[in-house]
Amino acid sequence: MTDHDHRRVIAIDGPAAAGKSTVARCLADQLGIMLFDTGALYRAVTLAALRGDTDLADDTALAQLAIDSHIDLRPASVEDDRLADVILDGEDVTWEIRSPAVDANVSRVAAYPAVRDALLPVQRNIADGSEVVMVGRDIGTIVTPKAGTKIYLDASVEERARRRYQDLRKQGVDTDVLSVMEDLRERDDKDSSRATAPLRAADDAVRIVTDGQSVDEIVLSIERLVRERWGEAA
Ligand code: DC
Repeated sequence: MTDHDHRRVIAIDGPAAAGKSTVARCLADQLGIMLFDTGALYRAVTLAALRGDTDLADDTALAQLAIDSHIDLRPASVEDDRLADVILDGEDVTWEIRSPAVDANVSRVAAYPAVRDALLPVQRNIADGSEVVMVGRDIGTIVTPKAGTKIYLDASVEERARRRYQDLRKQGVDTDVLSVMEDLRERDDKDSSRATAPLRAADDAVRIVTDGQSVDEIVLSIERLVRERWGEAA
C-alpha cells in the first residue's frame, strides 16, 4: 500500500440512503474535484448479471462478469437529477441500476469476495494520486485506508426510508415508506454482516449523523475539514 498516495482522497462511507451521494456531489462541486460513486460499479455488475441470466449463486461467474464488463462513470450529460452518467458496455444505464430489481440483488452480489477483488483495482486506479470524493461502504477501511479525509455519514432508518421513498417516487416507482424501510434494513444487515469488507466506520473517520441537517450544512462542515487538512483557507 505504500505506493498509493491517497492524501487527497475524501472517503465517504455509510449505510444506504444516508445522503452520501447528494453530499458528495455538492462537496465535489465546491472543491472542483472528481466524484466517484463506487456503489454504481456493484449495481452495474448486478444489472449485467440480471440481464444475462447469470446465476447469482455463482461467484466465479459474477467476478468474471465484473472483469469483462466495461463500466464507465462520467460527468452527468443529461439534466434529469442524475449525479453522473453510468455507462455499461456503451449503454447509458444510469437509471436502470437504481431499479427495484437491482436494489433487491446488489447486496448479494457485493458480498462475494471474488466480485470485490475484481472491482478493487478499478477503484484504486481512480484514487491513486487523485483529488476525488469516493463514495461507498468500505472506502475508508479497505479501498483507501490511507485516505486524507474519511467521513462516515449516517442517519436514522426512518429518515433514510423517507429519502429513499421520495427518490423512488420521483422515478415513478409505486411503493410505500414501510416497505422501503424494510428493504433498507435488510440491505444494511447484509452489507454490515458480510465477512469481506463489511460496512463499518474506519477508526479515524469523522462520523456525521445527517438527521435534521441540511445538505448545505453538512457539505460546509466537510469542506472546512478538507480545506484545513489540505492547508487551505475555507
Ligand atoms: O451506495 P449504493 O446503495 O448505490 O450501493 C449499492 C450496493 O453496493 C450496496 O448494497 C452495498 C454495495 N457497495 C459495497 O459493498 N461497497 C461499496 N464500496 C459500495 C457499494
